[in-house]
This record gives sequence, structure tokens and C-alpha cells, in this order.
Amino acid sequence: MHVVGWNFSPLSAMVKGKTAFDAAEFSKRADRIAFLSDQLLEGFQKAPPHGVNTDAKAEIWTSFDDFSTKAKDFVAEAKALSDVAKAKDEAKDKAQFKKLAGACKACHDKYKNDD
Ligand code: HEC
Repeated sequence: MHVVGWNFSPLSAMVKGKTAFDAAEFSKRADRIAFLSDQLLEGFQKAPPHGVNTDAKAEIWTSFDDFSTKAKDFVAEAKALSDVAKAKDEAKDKAQFKKLAGACKACHDKYKNDD
């Protein structure tokens, strides 16, 4: 998740107009997120042992089907962003980025503790 955030933040800054839009950079980072997205579920196969410092809520493992569905939505949106970004169309990149951000939020709202 940390690496996803690292690649996501610069895109977010571009979408919000905080930094100049750079289609090549956008595409590169979108590819990385799509690549990482496939590994998300692997990281959550087992509940963490007691005493591990985590923001992951226990509900992940009591409603793993729903969690998996949200993870798959995220993979689909991440891959779509990676594909859309290849066309280097700023408006389309930004629109798809918002869908991806929605997929992050849908899961965090339910399964991640606020810190
Ligand atoms: C299917 C669920 C799910 C999706 C989708 C998801 N996350 Fe997360 N994310 C989590 C959970 C659960 C945690 C808490 C993990 C922990 O603390 O062990 C987390 C934590 C994080 C963190 C904090 C990590 C850290 O090391 O401090 C960042 C940053 C993050 N997510 C970014 C994102 C971004 C950006 C996206 C979308 C591009 C995304 N996440 C999509 C479930 C998800």
C-alpha cells in the first residue's frame, strides 16, 4: 500500500493542478499502480498476528468476499487508467484517475482505520 501511495500522490497532484500535467510521467506511474494492484490481495491473505501495528480492520477477514470484490474493482480501475494513459489525453486521464481514487476510498472507508 505504501508503494501504491508513493506512485499515486504525484498523479493526484497533477489531477488537482498542483503540478504541471506530464502525460509520460502519468502513464509511467499508472502502469506501476496497475502492476502493484494485482498484489494487493496477496498481502491480505492472512490476518496479522496479534501485536502487529496495522490500520487494517478485522472486518477484512470476516467479510473477505466483499473485501476481495473491492480489491478487484481497484485492479480493474488501475488497469483502465494504465490503458487510458497510453493515449496521453489529459481530460480522459483525469476522469479515469477519479474513478480509481473512488476505488481506493471505497475500500479504505470500510476496512482501514483512520490514523
Ligand atoms: C481492497 C482494499 C483497498 C484498496 C482498493 C486500496 N487500499 Fe490502501 N489500504 C488498505 C488497507 C486495509 C490499509 C491499511 C493497511 C495496514 O495498515 O496494514 C491501506 C493503507 C493504505 C496506505 C497507508 C500505507 C502506509 O504504509 O502507511 C496508503 C498510502 C494507501 N492505502 C493508498 C491506497 C491508494 C492510493 C489506493 C488506490 C490507488 C488504495 N490504497 C487502495 C486497503 C485498500
